[in-house]
Amino acid sequence: MSSKLIAPSILAADFANLQRDIEMVNNSDADWFHIDIMDGVFVPNISFGMPVLKAIAKHANKTIDVHLMIIDPDRYIKTFANLGSDVLTVHYEACTHLHRTLQAIKTEGMKTGVALNPHTNISLLEDTINDIDLVCIMSVNPGFGGQNFIENTYNKVKQLKELITRKGATTQIEIDGGVTNKNAKQLVDAGADVLVAGSYIFKSTNQQETIKNLRAIANS
Ligand code: DX5
Ligand code: ZN
Repeated sequence: MSSKLIAPSILAADFANLQRDIEMVNNSDADWFHIDIMDGVFVPNISFGMPVLKAIAKHANKTIDVHLMIIDPDRYIKTFANLGSDVLTVHYEACTHLHRTLQAIKTEGMKTGVALNPHTNISLLEDTINDIDLVCIMSVNPGFGGQNFIENTYNKVKQLKELITRKGATTQIEIDGGVTNKNAKQLVDAGADVLVAGSYIFKSTNQQETIKNLRAIANS
């Protein structure tokens, strides 16, 4: 069984001390950087864009997992590849031609990710799952950090795991929103592979210790 991964969400970092927080993640037990890009249209918030990602990528020495919460993401696939994204996740709800979008992400040499809002049913991935490297199950409504975890997520993880197994896919399952030491174990037991955590890590007093403990719980 491969290790379960921890992806600190940079949305919760201190933007006035971004390099410090990136080095903290570099020197921690974390596996990935989770980067939230919001356009103020698909979600009711604007986070940060390309120049900031460029600055992050300059210092980050782990996998860069980009979560696009933007409409019509096809316009920027090449741009995000050039910025150093390793995984590019688009929202199911933002893609009219999801299959085409996934092929375009692959063509640019990135891993394909699809995020599902809390209301979006797992069964909608029936025909694309074999083209998806990562499914990001939103365990909050996207747009903001620090929200409460939605309990129905456990059911969705189990349904997705069942779909992946049935289709013989190799897709990883990522959980995004409200992840803490309280739900990590249950999420992994349900089938999760990657846990994104923002506030829980960055608001803690010893961030590296929090990452270490969360990773240990996920792999226990
Ligand atoms: C929400 C973002 C999340 C967010 C998670 O739209 O996609 O990645 O940063 O933050 P927490 O862990 O604070 O819920
Ligand atoms: Zn995210």
